[in-house]
Amino acid sequence: KVFEIAVIPGDGIGPEVVAEAVKVLNFVTNGGDKEVNLTTYKLGAEHWLETGETLPEETLESLKKHDAILFGAVGAAPGDTRIPSGLIEREMLLKLRFALDHYVNLRPSKLYPGIESPLANPGNIDFIVVREGTEGPYVGNGGSVRTGTPHEIATEVSVNTAYGVERVVRDAFARASQRERKHVTLVHKHNVLVHAGHLWRRTVEAVAADFPEVTHDYLHVDAATIFLTTDPARFDVIVTDNLFGDILTDQAGAITGGIGLSASGNINMSRTYPSMFEPVHGSAPDIAGQQKADPTAAILSVALMLDHLGLSEESKAVERAVEKEITSRQELTDHRTTSEIGDAIVALLA
Ligand code: NAI
Ligand code: MG
Repeated sequence: KVFEIAVIPGDGIGPEVVAEAVKVLNFVTNGGDKEVNLTTYKLGAEHWLETGETLPEETLESLKKHDAILFGAVGAAPGDTRIPSGLIEREMLLKLRFALDHYVNLRPSKLYPGIESPLANPGNIDFIVVREGTEGPYVGNGGSVRTGTPHEIATEVSVNTAYGVERVVRDAFARASQRERKHVTLVHKHNVLVHAGHLWRRTVEAVAADFPEVTHDYLHVDAATIFLTTDPARFDVIVTDNLFGDILTDQAGAITGGIGLSASGNINMSRTYPSMFEPVHGSAPDIAGQQKADPTAAILSVALMLDHLGLSEESKAVERAVEKEITSRQELTDHRTTSEIGDAIVALLA
């Protein structure tokens, strides 16, 4: 099978890190008998400035025909007044996640040997966060009355459906069952957020019955942030809602060496639409165009994509090469260029 992959390099360092990710993808697939066919899409802030388009309907329809999407980053430089703040992130990135039903937002956190954690005693950090991606407080369900007056009332209602919670909880248990420690931690705040919280708790109990080999526990989100600092090695699989997951995954990235290494998948496990894989970082306008960006997060996103496509050998090979390359670094980027790091990883795959 030839996999059809859409590539959206985006803005800033997006095209620089995606070029390295594509280098690795081509190498690891064309070396064997599996092939990928890449189609590049121009989207993002630059594209909006040129055309006024964020995500046209035809482009969305065309993206839907692919097996997966590799995404760089989008977004303008802060202070670029030509682009309304957050326009591209909302009308392109968020729109894609909702339109393609990316209900599993997957972010692995691993402290690779050789990487320095800001924690004094990080221990062996190796967990994944399964963040719900299509519901919660991010659905835009709310409003404001008496806007701009001292009597303004603004609401932002979190939406949690039995269907939506169950499918993401089931995914977390399924992933846990494939891991060594087979443990799921539900993170919520059900002592205060009683309605949504209890739906999540009941769902975890019900799904857990189908996975007798997987153990599970529960943490309030505030306690979870403490343990992510004091004892992150305790976590295996964290499952949580859209907002808590957003916050926890930034903290998780910070304790494992930072933004240049964190990969993510926006995954539709029912495979009705293509999943999208991207580095967690943004377009980094401060270092764009200088070959200073670390492409590792983008390359690890390729590993997640290969795994999702069922190419698990290729996925493992990429992760092993990245791990070896990181271990050999003197410091995080060694002052090498973006493409030198990509080349080094390809060399380790050869
Ligand atoms: P950012 O992630 O782009 O940059 C934060 C800091 O980390 C900067 O100092 C940057 O130089 C550094 N950094 C980021 N990626 C790096 C890499 N691969 N190697 C080395 N250093 C790296 O976040 P920021 O500055 O808040 O946002 C910049 C633009 O990106 C904004 O327009 C923002 O809205 C957008 N953004 C887009 C995202 C996406 O496309 N998924 C996610 C986050 C932000
Ligand atoms: Mg975030």
